[in-house]
Amino acid sequence: MSIRLRSETSGDEEAIDIVNCRAFGEMDEANLVRLLRTYYPAFDRRYSITAWDDEQLVGHALFTPAQIRLMGKTVKALAVGPVAVLPESQRTGIGGELLRRGHELGKRDGFRLTFLLGHPEYYPRHGYKACFGFARVTIDTENLPPATQKFHRSPVQLADVPWLVERYAAEWAEVDFGWLWGMNLNEWTIPCVSAMLWWTEDGRRAAYTLAKSGGWPQESKWKMMLAEDPMLAREVISTIKPKTLEHHPSGWLAKNVLDPKWGTAEVNASRAAMACELEEGILQPYLQALESNEHLPGFCNWPLPFMLC
Ligand SMILES: CC(C)(COP(=O)(O)OP(=O)(O)OC[C@H]1O[C@@H](n2cnc3c(N)ncnc32)[C@H](O)[C@@H]1OP(=O)(O)O)[C@@H](O)C(=O)NCCC(=O)NCCS
Repeated sequence: MSIRLRSETSGDEEAIDIVNCRAFGEMDEANLVRLLRTYYPAFDRRYSITAWDDEQLVGHALFTPAQIRLMGKTVKALAVGPVAVLPESQRTGIGGELLRRGHELGKRDGFRLTFLLGHPEYYPRHGYKACFGFARVTIDTENLPPATQKFHRSPVQLADVPWLVERYAAEWAEVDFGWLWGMNLNEWTIPCVSAMLWWTEDGRRAAYTLAKSGGWPQESKWKMMLAEDPMLAREVISTIKPKTLEHHPSGWLAKNVLDPKWGTAEVNASRAAMACELEEGILQPYLQALESNEHLPGFCNWPLPFMLC
C-alpha cells in the first residue's frame, strides 16, 4: 500500500469527519476538528495532515499551534490531537507517518515541542514522554462563607478581552504547559460554552467564569475563573459554589484566593499527558526540576473547543 500525505485543503472536511468518526466510534473528535477550524484563531490547515490511499482518506492528524509556558518562558509548541486512522487501515504504520510528518513540519517552522493527551502505550514509540498532569481545585462548599454582595452578569465582549488576557497571564504565568490565550474574542467565548463576566454593582469587573454547559446556577462543570481582586474572587466563589475548578496550585487563584478552610489545589502527574521535543533538550531543565521536586507537574488549560469534546 502506498500512502500519500498532504496538508488539508478546502473540500477535505467531510472525509476528515468520517475518518475521525470511524476511528473513534463517536462524533466528539470530528466535532473538535470542526470547532477548531471554525472558531480557533490559531487553527492552521497546513498542520492538519491527511493520509491518502489513492483517492480515499485513510488517516488524519491535527497539530494546533500554541504558546505554552515552560520554566517561566513562553514557548512555541504544537498541540497534537486528534489522531485517527480508519479501523481497516490501522497497524500499517499510517499513525506513525502522520506523527512524523507533523514533527517535520513543526521543526521546519520553529516549533520547539509537541504535546498531547493520549494512549501512554502508543505515543512513547514516537518520542513522547509523560510530562505534565491534571490540576484541580476542590471547594468544600459547605464551609464557604456566604456571599455579601450581588453581581451583574454579562456575556464576554471584545472590550473585555485585554483584561482577560492580562488576568489569564497572571493566573498561568508559573504553570508549566499552561496554554496562553490571546486577543481574539473566540478564544474567550464560543457557542455552547458558558463564559460570563461578573460585575460589581459599581461597574468593576469581579471575575470571568467558564463552565462546560447549562445556565447559572445549574452549571455542574465549572472549569476556570479569572479575577483581579482576591476579595471579589472569593465573593464570586461564594455565589456560584463550584465544587471543583481546573486550576493549578502554582496559579494566582490558588495562591491568592483559596482559604484552606474551604479550598485546596492539587496537581497529579499523568502518563497520558505527554510531550515530545522538536528542539533537542528543550524539555530537559523542566524534567530535571520535576525529578528533583523543585517543580510541580504542569497542567494544560486546553482552549474552548476542546472543552466541548
Ligand atoms: C492510535 C492510532 C492513531 C494508531 O494508528 P496506526 O496507524 O494504527 O498506528 P501505527 O500503524 O503507526 O502503529 C501501530 C502500532 O501501534 C500500536 N497501537 C495502536 N493503537 C494503540 C493503542 N491505543 N495503544 C497502544 N498501542 C497501540 C499497535 O498495536 C501497533 O503496534 P505493533 O506494531 O507492535 O503491532 C489508530 O490506532 C487509531 O486511529 N485509533 C483509534 C483512535 C485513537 O485512539 N486515536 C488516538 C487518540 S490518543
